[in-house]
Amino acid sequence: MAQTPVKVTVTGAAGQIGYALLFRIASGQLLGADVPVTLSLLEIPQAVKAAEGTAMELDDCAFPLLSGIEVTDDPNVAFNGANVALLVGARPRSKGMERGDLLQANGGIFGPQGKAINDNAADDIRVLVVGNPANTNALIAQQHAPDVPAERFTAMTRLDHNRALSQLAAKLQVPVTEIKKMTIWGNHSATQYPDLFHAEVGGKIAAELVDETWLRDTFIPTVAKRGAAIIEARGASSAASAANAAIDHVFDWVNGTAWTSAAIPSDGSYGVPEGLISSFPVASRDGKWEIIQGLEIDAFSRERIDATVRELEEERSAVRELGLI
Ligand code: NAD
Ligand code: LMR
Repeated sequence: MAQTPVKVTVTGAAGQIGYALLFRIASGQLLGADVPVTLSLLEIPQAVKAAEGTAMELDDCAFPLLSGIEVTDDPNVAFNGANVALLVGARPRSKGMERGDLLQANGGIFGPQGKAINDNAADDIRVLVVGNPANTNALIAQQHAPDVPAERFTAMTRLDHNRALSQLAAKLQVPVTEIKKMTIWGNHSATQYPDLFHAEVGGKIAAELVDETWLRDTFIPTVAKRGAAIIEARGASSAASAANAAIDHVFDWVNGTAWTSAAIPSDGSYGVPEGLISSFPVASRDGKWEIIQGLEIDAFSRERIDATVRELEEERSAVRELGLI
C-alpha cells in the first residue's frame, strides 16, 4: 500500500537556507529515501512569488518522493496537517536594532506561528527552529502552542555540533567519523559551550588529546564564533551548512541516534532551569529526544555551561517582560 506523504512545512522558504534545504527534503534526505513528502512553503506576501519560483524548480526536478507543493503566506494553511515544521524565516538584526527590538520583531513571527501550529498541525508535529535567536524563538512558539507536547519544540545547535566535529578532526588529523560523543551546551550564540571533555576519539577523551590552550583559546571561540566568521567571509549568514544541519537534526530525531546535540526543553538536568530550550547531549529513541544523563561536569565545563544558560535565562526574562510569552 502506498505510504501517506509526510507534510513538511518550511518557513522563510524563499530565503537562502530555504533554497539549500527544499531540494534535499524533496529528494528524501530529511526523512528517508522511502518516505514520500509534501512540501508547504510559507513566506511573507512580498516573497511569495520568489517561493513560487522555487516551487517551479522543485517540480522540474521530478523528484519521485515529492507528492505535492503548496506556497502560501497564511500560517494556518501552511501548518494545516503538518508533521514536520522547519521554522527558518526570522527577522534579522538590522543596523542600530537593540536586542529588545529584535526579540519583539521575532515575537511577532514566532508567536503567531506557534499558535497556527497549535491550531492546525498534525498530532505528531515536530518543530525545529532555525531562525535566530533560535532557542528563544522556539520558546516563544512553544508557549503559543499549549496543546502540543512541549518537547516537540526544538532549536538547532546541530550546525555548531558539526562545526565542532570538523575543527577537532582537522586538529587531530582524523576523519570526523572517528569522533564520538561531541556535545554543544546552551544557546546557539557566541556563549555556547562546545565540550571536549566527553567527546571521544578512538576511545580516548578528546580533551586529553589536545593542549589546554588550544582547547580554550582556539577551539571553543572558533566554534562559537564560526557563524560570525562565515558572515564576514560570505557577506551573508551560513546557508547550505545550516540547511545540512537541519536535515541532520530532523533525520536523527525521526530515525534515532545514540548521541548528538540539540536544543530541547530542559527537564532540569545538569542544573539547566526547567523549560529553557537549551542544547544538551541527546539521544533519540522511538522518535523522542532524551538528554544523556550521568555525565560528570568539571569546574571548567560548569563555568561555561552556567554562562550560556544565564544568557538563555536573560533572553527568557526579556521576552517575558515584553509580554511575548
Ligand atoms: P534569508 O534572509 O535569506 O531568508 C529569510 C526568509 O524568511 C526571507 O525569504 C523572508 O522573506 C522570510 N520570512 C521573514 N519573515 C517571515 C515570516 N513571518 N513567515 C515566513 N517567512 C518569513 O535568511 P537565511 O539565510 O535563510 O536565514 C534564516 C534564519 O536562519 C536567520 O535568522 C539566520 O540568522 C538563521 N540561521 C540560523 C542558524 C542556526 O544554526 N540556528 C544558522 C544559520 C542561519
Ligand atoms: C550561524 O551560526 O551561522 C548563524 O546563526 C549566524 C547568524 O547570525 O545568522
